Amino acid sequence: RIVYLNGEYLPHNQARVSVFDRGFLFGDGVYEVIPVLQGKLVDEDYSVERLSRSLNEISMAWPCSTQDYLHMLRTLIDRNHLQEGSVYVQVTRGVAERDFAYPKNTPSSIMAFTSERLLLNNPLAERGVSVVTVPDLRWKRRDIKSLNLLAQCMAKQEAAAQGAFEAWMVEDGRITEGSSSSAFIVKDGHIITRALSNAILPGIRRRVIIELTEKEGLVLEQRPFSVEEAHHADEAFLSSATTLVLPVVLVDGQAVGDGKPGAITQRLRELYIATLL
Ligand code: PDD
Repeated sequence: RIVYLNGEYLPHNQARVSVFDRGFLFGDGVYEVIPVLQGKLVDEDYSVERLSRSLNEISMAWPCSTQDYLHMLRTLIDRNHLQEGSVYVQVTRGVAERDFAYPKNTPSSIMAFTSERLLLNNPLAERGVSVVTVPDLRWKRRDIKSLNLLAQCMAKQEAAAQGAFEAWMVEDGRITEGSSSSAFIVKDGHIITRALSNAILPGIRRRVIIELTEKEGLVLEQRPFSVEEAHHADEAFLSSATTLVLPVVLVDGQAVGDGKPGAITQRLRELYIATLL
């Protein structure tokens, strides 16, 4: 596998990062995960926009022009002959003596790799997945796609321990989002998902799904929903770069609706995929 690191395309086992990299020491950096379909980046403009925002929020400059950035990602996809999967890319504040305040004049560090993954013919899209609710232990700037993911790792591990696919994180009795996905329920034909704020990541699939609901004339409510509402929803689903849209059929061991993927969920997945092909 070929990875990209600071200007070089290298076999993954030859890529080396300093122990003084602030990403390693402090989690001082941001990242993106971009789906790849038919060898092409998906929703790349939204991803560039979000990376810009993340960098800006932590006062980091782009490591290169966005044109060079996209060219690098495409080269990496080609070098790895990736047809379907994702690209992971992260930018850290670079290598400096360990000091909490930002270093001056330190070039940022950029790294990217590709992963193969089934996006279209994912068997989970037919079967649906289970989620469990866990406390949201994260910090107060979840809108920044930062490298600090320990709380999400803990949440996902709790889900895994309970045999579930995803953890839906809960704050003040309401679901914020999944550990690595956006969360939705459907009730009486209304699609419900939390509005954007510092409490959640601005998911790109979430953004596209909202655009699709508007186009299709579906009713959307952007508001927090409770664990109780999730337990009694007609349908539920999650979305992310690596899952696109997946039906949720079990919440905390309770069947959602009739326990099968919902019609609105399946339609949104199909509509989203149709925009990509
Ligand atoms: N996670 N919420 C959180 C906390 C996430 O980490 C993600 C994505 C999403 C969905 O956003 P998007 O549709 O832009 O992927 C929502 C990625 C896939 C990850 O960390 O691997």
